[in-house]
Amino acid sequence: MKKTSISEPFIKFANWFEQAQAKPEIIEPTAMCLSTVDEKNCPSSRMVLLKKFDERGFCFFTNLTSRKGGELAKNPNVALCFYWGILGLQIRIEGKIEKVTPQEADDYFASRRRGSQIGAWASKQSQEMMEWNEFEERIKKVTQDFEGQEVTRPPFWSGFRVLPKAIEFWQEGEFRIHSREFYQRCEDGWELKKIYP
Ligand SMILES: Cc1cc2nc3c(=O)[nH]c(=O)nc-3n(C[C@H](O)[C@H](O)[C@H](O)COP(=O)(O)O)c2cc1C
Repeated sequence: MKKTSISEPFIKFANWFEQAQAKPEIIEPTAMCLSTVDEKNCPSSRMVLLKKFDERGFCFFTNLTSRKGGELAKNPNVALCFYWGILGLQIRIEGKIEKVTPQEADDYFASRRRGSQIGAWASKQSQEMMEWNEFEERIKKVTQDFEGQEVTRPPFWSGFRVLPKAIEFWQEGEFRIHSREFYQRCEDGWELKKIYP
């Protein structure tokens, strides 16, 4: 085991992420699998998009009243997983979430396309939809309500930052001789160990 600086796994993440972004074959390099846990300790996973990251953590945005939003409100423990197949790279992140600031959520919401902003207002994400028409009506209504105005962020829509406690970098090797580097957060940096594939 080796001690590293706080920055090290973030620099490594940035480097791999850049490689993924540079590959035209990777349609959605920011896509990551987010796992949450419900009150019975049962996990659930879905894809979300990484919208920003720095040495504090990894941010995504969503509807707070969704299934994931409800689970996150009760249990802040999450896991993220990236896989960039063409590069043979996987990154796993485990930690706790915190809400982003209202300003961060506003800034990101304002950068979205108008159709997505309207969709955020109109979708009761994860709730039962009786008929598709009902959703279309909601979209129509929101479109009319904001006619000629900027679409503001819904109060039920925001973002979360995953504060990592552990980050694992997996690199595919021939004959399944993969390389795995496991970083675990400690007081003033990270403990790094190599683990068997
Ligand atoms: C590639 C991809 C990216 C997605 N990105 C997001 C996202 O950033 N935020 C989000 O709320 N849902 C996103 N979704 C939809 C989620 O996977 C999921 O269907 C939705 O958030 C509802 O999940 P829940 O019912 O577990 O809360 C994405 C789906 C895919 C396939």
